[in-house]
Amino acid sequence: MKTLKILVLNGPNLNLLGTREPEIYGTETMDSIAKDLNACAEQLDGVELEFRQSNSESDLITWIGDAKGKFDGIIINPAAFTHTSLGVADALKAVAGIVPAVEVHLSNTHAREEIRHKSLTAPGCIGQIMGFKGYSYILALQALVSYLRSEK
Ligand code: DQA
Repeated sequence: MKTLKILVLNGPNLNLLGTREPEIYGTETMDSIAKDLNACAEQLDGVELEFRQSNSESDLITWIGDAKGKFDGIIINPAAFTHTSLGVADALKAVAGIVPAVEVHLSNTHAREEIRHKSLTAPGCIGQIMGFKGYSYILALQALVSYLRSEK
């Protein structure tokens, strides 16, 4: 079985998880989410993860475009850029047929302020998982790996 390489991208303010509005996002930190996700990747066998976070839209756009030929899939929490960034949305669409992406959110954005109900980035993804705090990432990884394995 071919090893699947998955790029896990995280947008602005997700470096503050743990202390950032814990009633909404939970108390897990980026590091603890990465640790749990790596344990899940190990269980899935033949899955390698690369975890990145940036507060800069430009980093995320560049990382998505550069994923072609280096990664088999992307898990992305675009954070606030979900609702604002045509650039991130266009980057996801540009690689969609080549590097499929799953959008993930800790909170259920549909149960929050109206401005968070719309995702500009979701149309460039194969699917979206939200509302399960850190566990959303685990569900996203399971879904993406199953998608990639059934595709190949
Ligand atoms: C978020 C939801 C976004 O609306 C918000 O801007 C974030 C985090 C989430 O994971 O729930 O920063 O993407």
